[in-house]
Amino acid sequence: MTGMRKRSVNGIMSHSFHALRPKSPLSRVKTMNNSIKVLNEGNEHVFEVEDKELILDAAIRQQVPIPYTCRNGTCRTCLYQVVEGTVIQEDADICMISEQELEAGRRLLCMSTLQGDAVIEKVVRKRRRPEGEVTNLGATAI
Ligand code: FES
Repeated sequence: MTGMRKRSVNGIMSHSFHALRPKSPLSRVKTMNNSIKVLNEGNEHVFEVEDKELILDAAIRQQVPIPYTCRNGTCRTCLYQVVEGTVIQEDADICMISEQELEAGRRLLCMSTLQGDAVIEKVVRKRRRPEGEVTNLGATAI
């Protein structure tokens, strides 16, 4: 029942595809996009991420300002904390992220994909105290 048929209409050969060809059930399946909300030090951005698309690639494609440098998991500029949802760290063994960070829900967006909707927040590096600065506990930092 598949393929092309030749038929003659008023002596002219024409080609037609089967009109009653059943559609594959897979042809009705559309890829689902997921939505991610990014909290960036007071700013909030929501954008779509395609199935299996890296989150940083999606952000760049949609001109969402996400800090990045290397795009290969080594500089850690795109380190975020997952607040809600499932973010998959791809190739974690070659990225500069520790097991403890992964368990704590941190991800490098340049090497991460999304599974469903999620909320993430930028990890802000703590400022190192200069030697001798007094802490809020009254103790002196070493
Ligand atoms: S951009 Fe460098 S680790 Fe993600």
